Amino acid sequence: MTVVTVKGPSPYDVHIAHTLTGALAQRVRESGARNVAIVHQRPLAAVARQIVQEVGSTVEFTLLDVPDAESGKTIEVLSGLWDSLGEAGFGRQDLVIGLGGGAATDLAGFAAATWMRGIRIIQVPTTLLAMVDAAVGGKTGINTAYGKNLVGAFHEPDAVFADLDRLHTLPEEELVAGSAELIKTGFIADPRILDLFREGADRHWEELVSRSVAVKAGVVGQDLKESGLREILNYGHTFGHAIERRENYAWRHGDAVAVGMMFVAHLAHNRGLIDADLLALHHEILDLVGLPTTYEGGVFDELYENMTRDKKNRDGRIRFVVLSSLGQCTRMEDATVEEMREAYAAISEGAQR
Ligand SMILES: NC(=O)c1ccc[n+]([C@@H]2O[C@H](COP(=O)([O-])OP(=O)(O)OC[C@H]3O[C@@H](n4cnc5c(N)ncnc54)[C@H](O)[C@@H]3O)[C@@H](O)[C@H]2O)c1
Ligand SMILES: [Zn+2]
Repeated sequence: MTVVTVKGPSPYDVHIAHTLTGALAQRVRESGARNVAIVHQRPLAAVARQIVQEVGSTVEFTLLDVPDAESGKTIEVLSGLWDSLGEAGFGRQDLVIGLGGGAATDLAGFAAATWMRGIRIIQVPTTLLAMVDAAVGGKTGINTAYGKNLVGAFHEPDAVFADLDRLHTLPEEELVAGSAELIKTGFIADPRILDLFREGADRHWEELVSRSVAVKAGVVGQDLKESGLREILNYGHTFGHAIERRENYAWRHGDAVAVGMMFVAHLAHNRGLIDADLLALHHEILDLVGLPTTYEGGVFDELYENMTRDKKNRDGRIRFVVLSSLGQCTRMEDATVEEMREAYAAISEGAQR
């Protein structure tokens, strides 16, 4: 088992290993909670029952299944969770477990953040994306009709248990999309991650997830309220978000981020910030994993418009995180429309070598 500690005012451990149910059960027993709610997506129902069994009868469990993906992150579902917590008599000493992908951990985290102004949560992420991103860092929330993640709270977990056995049932396309965030942390901070993908991710999940979590933990541990350091985690995201919006969120986030990383790699290369080898490395690794590296041609104006509307670019300028070398980031705030157009041309379908 690998343990990564997220520092800050209330540090917590992220446990990463195969077969963690026993360790999780022990942690739940030691928590002293009498009531424990497991908020889980439906594909994790059997895992939820397994946790109940392992913990034993010292604890009163409430199993709360929630709708899949974004349809779980709604005020209606949250309200249902509050009702269930009320009915089961949840108090300040009780505990919520968030079991599932990032949508489940965001929702469960926000339910815990708001119940009695905040009760403890243990996050048990079951997708690659949730293990390395959503369940680490303390951001929780739900969507509204006006956009994703518009309502939320910072509520750090008591602990995170990333059980790599869960990856066995994860659909291949979720594994591929989740890999984009790991590759991102490889480029911005820990290039060894890229080597491990080259050697074959299947043999290295524990080290891959641990290293990627360590990168995120290193950033969020110093930057609890988004003062600016967290920005590096947005590598590839500015252009990626523009694609997601244009595709009405039918594209997987990781796929969009992969194309976004190609876009900023070209932007940085055209400026002379990174050499041709580092640009080629982006293409090589993303391609190897099965992530997209190109996007539909002829729609620059739409994507540009989406980038200017991104909430992180409110002052009118579009801010990009770019690499200055492998594992080193810098900011680019003065990219011209022409430079962006040129980077887009390089990744447009039909314009490929
Ligand atoms: N809080 C944060 O900092 C943060 C960061 C990144 C993303 N997010 C959020 O995370 C969400 C996306 O997370 P996601 O990609 O994990 O998606 P998800 O939670 O929608 O899960 C993807 C799908 O996989 C299923 N699933 C989950 N685990 C499984 C398993 N082990 N086996 C089989 N099926 C399984 C789910 O039921 C779902 O259908 C978004 O809502 C996003 O806003 C939050
Ligand atoms: Zn992301």
